[in-house]
Amino acid sequence: MLSADLSPKFCVRLNNEVRMPIMGLGTWGLEGEQCYRVVKCALQMGYRLIDTASMYGNEAEIGRAFRDSGLSRDDVFITTKVASKDQGYEETLAACQASLYRLGLSFVDLYMIHWPVVGKNIDTWKAMEELFSKGKCRAIGVSNFSIPLIEEIKRREMVLPAVNQIEFNPFVYEREMFNYCAENGIHIEAYSPLTRGICLQDKTLLGVAHAYGKSPAQILLRWALQKGVTVIPKATSVKHLKENLDIFDFELYFGDMDKLDALSMAQCLIDR
Ligand SMILES: NC(=O)c1ccc[n+]([C@@H]2O[C@H](COP(=O)([O-])OP(=O)(O)OC[C@H]3O[C@@H](n4cnc5c(N)ncnc54)[C@H](OP(=O)(O)O)[C@@H]3O)[C@@H](O)[C@H]2O)c1
Repeated sequence: MLSADLSPKFCVRLNNEVRMPIMGLGTWGLEGEQCYRVVKCALQMGYRLIDTASMYGNEAEIGRAFRDSGLSRDDVFITTKVASKDQGYEETLAACQASLYRLGLSFVDLYMIHWPVVGKNIDTWKAMEELFSKGKCRAIGVSNFSIPLIEEIKRREMVLPAVNQIEFNPFVYEREMFNYCAENGIHIEAYSPLTRGICLQDKTLLGVAHAYGKSPAQILLRWALQKGVTVIPKATSVKHLKENLDIFDFELYFGDMDKLDALSMAQCLIDR
């Protein structure tokens, strides 16, 4: 089994030189014992990035799964996010401390603003800079931020986000944001890389999957990897966890990348 370990082959270097895996596990919707079991199983299988958020209510289970996995702290890249209700300078400092407490960690690898909040982003970002300088996180990032919101951070000459976690798959492919992040050294982390399962029966996608002898989910993940972004598919079953990790032994040809680039969510919803 190929594993998405922290070796350079499976990592990107962020704008502050920290190495981040290009493949990880999303955990939105995983709770309690099920979350514990799935995350522990994923870590044993070779997943090396776990994405959570204080809003998901599962940080404690993820921390426990990591400790019980027997892996060392350097082996696993753990990310969490400050919730909108906790934005603001003091609130963010406290929210990060609370997340670390629930995770049972002294630092996370990447701390992100989950969603922008009008009037609060800059104060929150100041707190993120502070958390970074104090070693509470190895990198800081944003999620669901638009170009103007990132430009505001840039104008103020603050630390540029290392990552923007956004919805990213062939059906939701914002080229302007993709190019902007590439030009500014901001790494994209793709959430809902499997379209939450909505478009897995799309005819074009099924055709490409058939041609490579791969599943539609594997084609979507491979497409994102070839765009150079990190993917964090959420999966519950062992079958899905394994399948999603098995994407390092093939390559999509240019023509097929173009076909996938042309897909649209609107069309997928009409065809369903
Ligand atoms: N920053 C944000 O605002 C934000 C927003 C949304 C998500 N996220 C993060 O991104 C992660 C992933 O996004 P997501 O959970 O929205 O959706 P997703 O990963 O695109 O899709 C998850 C769905 O796909 C199914 N699935 C997984 N592997 C499959 C496979 N090989 N074949 C067929 N179906 C498969 C899962 O089913 P099973 O569970 O049954 O395996 C689940 O129903 C989240 O868990 C979360 O960590 C962040």
